[in-house]
Amino acid sequence: MPNRDERSWSGSEVEVLARAVIRAPSVHNSQPWSLALPGMRAELSERTDLSLPEHDPTGRDRLISCGAALENLVLAVRVLGWATDVAILPGHAPLVAVVTTAGREPPSDRELHAYAAISRRRSHRRPFAAIPVVSSVLEPVIGRLPHGVGCRVLDIGDKNVLAVLLEQASQTIQNHDGLQRELEEWTGGWKADSVGDGLVRPGYDKAGIPWAGLVRRSSVIPDVRTLARRLAAETTLVFCTEDDDRTRHVRAGMAMQRSWLAAVDGGLVASVLTQLLREESVRERMTEDLTLPGRPLFLMRLGYPDGPVRRAARRRPGEAVRRTDDDHPR
Ligand SMILES: Cc1cc2nc3c(=O)[nH]c(=O)nc-3n(C[C@H](O)[C@H](O)[C@H](O)COP(=O)(O)O)c2cc1C
Repeated sequence: MPNRDERSWSGSEVEVLARAVIRAPSVHNSQPWSLALPGMRAELSERTDLSLPEHDPTGRDRLISCGAALENLVLAVRVLGWATDVAILPGHAPLVAVVTTAGREPPSDRELHAYAAISRRRSHRRPFAAIPVVSSVLEPVIGRLPHGVGCRVLDIGDKNVLAVLLEQASQTIQNHDGLQRELEEWTGGWKADSVGDGLVRPGYDKAGIPWAGLVRRSSVIPDVRTLARRLAAETTLVFCTEDDDRTRHVRAGMAMQRSWLAAVDGGLVASVLTQLLREESVRERMTEDLTLPGRPLFLMRLGYPDGPVRRAARRRPGEAVRRTDDDHPR
């Protein structure tokens, strides 16, 4: 048998790794990553050609998406029985991270559970069942955040403050022509889709809960009191980092996915929101008014499903996974 230095990923290992990455959540389902698998390494890069100049001019959401894909990738390598070294490489764009295998090591119980949740995770943009999420259920969801990422569970006072900010942010987004055009280009075509991805639910939006998904031109934005009442019935988390830099955005994406998978493993459903944090002024006010430990990067709402969970969102048909580093001389 070849030793680890000579070995390369087998066909079935490649399949497992690629499938895990592709199932990650991403901004507007853009899947802005590529995966190279030279030798026994896995290299995740950012696809800067898939850009959202209106919604995501700095590429922050793209990196968070790559972070979520990295979390899935690491879990898949672990479930294949390899110990991992993960290096996030802020100075080597578009390379995001390199995962190196470091000998055999069986996955932990937590890793097996998280990996199993990858295919069950999806964005739940609907209301939740009226069952409170107790702290013992929440604990594993927020218990293992990567270094430099903070998370705050909002209380009722915070939610009243948040309702005011979200109502204002929703109005701004709805009236922003460029943003609405871009949103339509990326997600509007899905309207006629029968896949039930949940991104476009005009009826749901019109019911007045656009904050649970994406604010569109057609969304009916609820008044602050209604918004506050709806927020009060949900569990809302805000994820923050001390600074806005590449490494922290990738780590925040890992945190997003780690928490989301732990939630799914605990029987919960969730969705994330960044659209309403697009304006720097909203992020600044949120930091101050909610006395957050850092800059907010995304909100996560979670709870128990109120009915059948929809099917998974479709992914772009398989894009080539490179098995050698020919294109990436190092
Ligand atoms: C960085 C990031 C930002 C996102 N922002 C939003 C958002 O503002 N509103 C929303 O409804 N979904 C948002 N999503 C969820 C994506 O739309 C979703 O992951 C994608 O459509 C794939 O669907 P799935 O999560 O069901 O697999 C975001 C996801 C990521 C990773």
